Order: sequence, then structure tokens, then C-alpha cells
Amino acid sequence: MFKFPEDFIWGTATAAYQIEGAANEDGRGESIWDRFSHIPGNVWNNQNGDVACDHYHRYKEDVQILKDMGVKGYRFSISWPRVIPEGTGKINQKGVDFYNGLIDELLKYNIQPFVTLYHWDLPQALQYKGGWANRDTAEYFADYASEMFRLFGDRVKHWITHNEPWCTSFLGHAIGVHAPGIKDFSTALQVAHNVLLSHGKAVQYFRQAGRGGKIGITLNLTPVYAASDREEDVRAATVADGYSNRWFLDPVFKGQYPEDMLKNFGSFAKIPDVQVGDMKIISSPMDFLGVNYYTRSFVKYNPDAQFGTESLRPDGQYTEMDWEVYPQGLYDLLMRLKKDYGDIDIYITENGAAFKDVVENNSVDDSDRLNYLKMHFEKAAEAIRDGVKLKGYFVWSLMDNFEWAHGYSKRFGLIYVDYETQKRIWKKSALWYKDVIANNSL
Ligand code: FCB
Repeated sequence: MFKFPEDFIWGTATAAYQIEGAANEDGRGESIWDRFSHIPGNVWNNQNGDVACDHYHRYKEDVQILKDMGVKGYRFSISWPRVIPEGTGKINQKGVDFYNGLIDELLKYNIQPFVTLYHWDLPQALQYKGGWANRDTAEYFADYASEMFRLFGDRVKHWITHNEPWCTSFLGHAIGVHAPGIKDFSTALQVAHNVLLSHGKAVQYFRQAGRGGKIGITLNLTPVYAASDREEDVRAATVADGYSNRWFLDPVFKGQYPEDMLKNFGSFAKIPDVQVGDMKIISSPMDFLGVNYYTRSFVKYNPDAQFGTESLRPDGQYTEMDWEVYPQGLYDLLMRLKKDYGDIDIYITENGAAFKDVVENNSVDDSDRLNYLKMHFEKAAEAIRDGVKLKGYFVWSLMDNFEWAHGYSKRFGLIYVDYETQKRIWKKSALWYKDVIANNSL
């Protein structure tokens, strides 16, 4: 039996656009996800986050669930257009009131708020000015972040600047399946740079504000395995690792883009415009790294594929997202981070799984999800035993929600949401998680 450290933060995670709803209420501005999801064809069944889990009106009920689950932390994101509808300038007091209410409710039960400043819902007003492709957005973001430190920093002690810049950059601007739906690799590279720059500026403003607390960034990291030890497969895996992981890890921790990837990307796209001093800002020391882990990638060399790298689908168990269940990847990833990037504090800021859930007698027997979590917790425990400074673990997600381009078709929640009635139902995994937290062990 493994006992987790005394101060280990067990938690759950959500994001504003995925749960809040109230899209047109109390002065909230439009975001790029409102715009994107309302264009037919972009989201499964043309669904959107207008109502979602109606968390905006039900947050007290949802915090009660967190309290009953016994979590020590709750990761949520602030909707930038809810608090600053135009992205810059005037603050929307009603939006601020909502987050004050949520934070105070959490603290009432000793649940630590972990606040993400950007989980993909850029104010549409800023998209009109070029969005993340416009370098000025980095400064707009840092100003917004400063306002949040000022408004909530007396109570919020853990801040996450960005959630998964890889997705913002490549899903949003190269592959185009996320807002704002742009398909241009060079733009995506510039976006990645501007997002990283905005992160670094926010970290610097945070230090200047001097309100105490910790700040970091959340990256989605996918350990890459080569299909064989043939030289070309190994090389393909290095490239895939550069694209998914190092393109963000290296700037943040080493203040440089990986040389091999500059060359690789440079062969077919425009390398981002990096100004003097940018890399120093981007690599401003952080207090922790947030890691979102779901699956691994398994690749072989294929000269006809993008970057000469083809993703394979090895035999095994797969989730509803068609993501391979691969707990060992979490251990390998954590050990690799320690080895290559230093002994920084780490939080798993997301891990979880979508499976088909069936409600029967007011409960959901989601053994697949329970097992998924159990196997990953075990790997986390192993990593702690082997010296990784893992400080907490946030299950994605507290409740079923709007899964971006998949709409409401993928359920990741510990809590089931009946979208017709907004009723919340505890799944078996939620009850099990409650025990894990209470025992602080597996
Ligand atoms: C991550 C996102 C999160 C959720 C999970 C399933 O990429 O950060 O919002 O969609 O995937």
C-alpha cells in the first residue's frame, strides 16, 4: 500500500467554457469558442456551450459535490470575456462577482482554488485584431492576468497561465478543429510563440505584484515511443516528441526552441518572429509545471506522412476518444521531465477518460474509468517513490461537460450530468475517488 504525501492535493478540474453556460448573461462578452461553435459543422451535432452544465447558476451545488468528495483542490478557469468583455479595458463587475462567489465558496470548505487564466476562450473582440497571431495579444493577456492577480490574489494562491498551448496553437491554427479554426502551420508557430511570450510576461507581472502564491503553466505532454529500434523509426519518434513536447518545454525551461525542430519546421513553414529578449521572458522561472496526461503516441517512419512520422494504433484498450490506455506513459513522462528539465514541482492538472456511461437506478457503473484512474494513480505513486516532486493530481473532470469539437458526446466526468434536467449523478468512480482521497492511499 502506498501512502501519498501528507500535503498531496487531490482534486478535480474543469474549464469555463465547458461547464459555465450563461453565455449571454450578466454582460459576458463573446469568445472565439462562442463564435466557432455557432458555425454549423464545427462541433458534433452543432452543439455549443451556451448552457453547458449551467454551472454559472449552480456553482454552489457543484461545490457541495466537491466538498462531499473531499477534494483538497479544484482547478477551474476564468473566462476572460466574462470579466473583461472586450479583452482589454472595462471590467465586468458581475463576472468578477461570480468568481468571487466561487472562490469564497471553495475556501469555506478548505478547497484550494487552482485558477487557469486561459483555457481557450479568447475574447472575440481580440480575434478581430488578429487574436493570438497578433503579438500585442501577449501584452493584453498579461494585463488581464494582472487584473486577476489584483482581484483574486488575496485568496487564490495557485495560478496557471495557459492550458495546453499546443492545442491553442496547432488544433486552433494549423489543424483548425478548434477555435478560431485557422489552418496554417506558419500562423500556428507564431501563435505558439505569442502564447509563450504572454505566459512569461504574466509570470513577471505576478512576481512584481508580490501577493504571494505560485504560478506555472499547464502543458499537454504525450510521451512518444518508436515502433521499432530501427534508426528511421527512432528519428521519427524524436520529431514527434519535438512537435508535441519539446517545442513548449524547451522554451519554458531552457529559453530556446529545439534546434532540430527549427530546421524541420523551417523546411515547410515560416519560423516565428522572435524578438530580442523574448526567450528570456518566456523562460522566467516558474514555481511548478502542470502536466495533462491522457495517452502516449506510438510512431514509425513514413516518408509520405507529415514530418515523416506516422502514428500507429497498437493493440490494447482504448477510450471513447480512441486514445490508448497507457498508464506506463505517465511514469515514463514524469521521470523524463525530472531528467531533462530539472527537479521542479509538478501537478497532474488533468488525467481521466471518456467511456460510454449508462445510468441505471440513479447510478453509473463506470468500472472502466475507475480502473483507468487507479492504474494511473499507481504510476504516479511509483514516480513519487522514485523522486518526482509530484504535488497533486486533478482528475479530468469533475463532471461531464462540453468536450470541444465533440460536443456533449464524450463524457469525462466523475459526476454524470443529465443535460435535460441538469441533474448530477455520482458515478461509481466518484465514490471510489472519495475513498482514495479519504485514505490518501490506494
Ligand atoms: C484536454 C483539455 C480539456 C479536456 C480534455 C479531455 O485537452 O484541456 O479541456 O477537453 O482534454
